[in-house]
Amino acid sequence: MTQDELKTLVGRAALDYVQAGSIVGVGTGSTVDKFIDALGEALKTDPKRVVGAVSSSVRSTQRLEALGIPVLPAETVTELGVYIDGADEIDHGGNMIKGGGAALTREKIVADLARQFVCIADESKLVQALGKFPLPVEVIPMAAAQVIRAFAKLGGEGKVREGCTTDNGNVIVDVTGLQITEPARFESDINQIPGVVTVGVFARNKASVCLLGTSQGVKTLK
Ligand code: 5RP
Repeated sequence: MTQDELKTLVGRAALDYVQAGSIVGVGTGSTVDKFIDALGEALKTDPKRVVGAVSSSVRSTQRLEALGIPVLPAETVTELGVYIDGADEIDHGGNMIKGGGAALTREKIVADLARQFVCIADESKLVQALGKFPLPVEVIPMAAAQVIRAFAKLGGEGKVREGCTTDNGNVIVDVTGLQITEPARFESDINQIPGVVTVGVFARNKASVCLLGTSQGVKTLK
């Protein structure tokens, strides 16, 4: 199976975690696009399959609205049953690196509203330890050089992502060369650097379930 087919497989499988008639939290990326498409298909036969979504990006909002799915502002929702999102890397403990699509801040906010985080990913995303994928960090523009120097002290090399402004008007610094051995501690340490809006390590908001697309089918990791 191609990577695209594996993404379709897990996008469809995620529907099983969405309670009928609920409001669903929706992440961002090419795998989530497959989930949104599956949701659109399900709505054709069951118009009450979901009553709305809380979206983590302009990109996902546009896709949801194009399918007639109402998108609710996060500030009007107090709790979601489930949040569905992809990952750039996920380890066996459910810790993730996210932000390849630059939507990490809103992803963390919407994930925090949800009782359950279901990560959908093809098998290439499963790693033994986080850190090979360049770590995305959303940064206030005036702090970018300072944040890059702070990462250099930790042994990382940061670069501002070219041509990328986040939905929040900030920049993304992608950092390579880091050893992320304790994801939760790392996440809270990086959050202390002035100018960092969000670090792309999701350890506090880690996945409760990972639906991994493999050539043998969907594997469920808990
Ligand atoms: C966007 C993300 C995505 O979930 C992550 O980049 C995975 O994307 P894809 O499903 O396209 O591989 O964190 O900010």
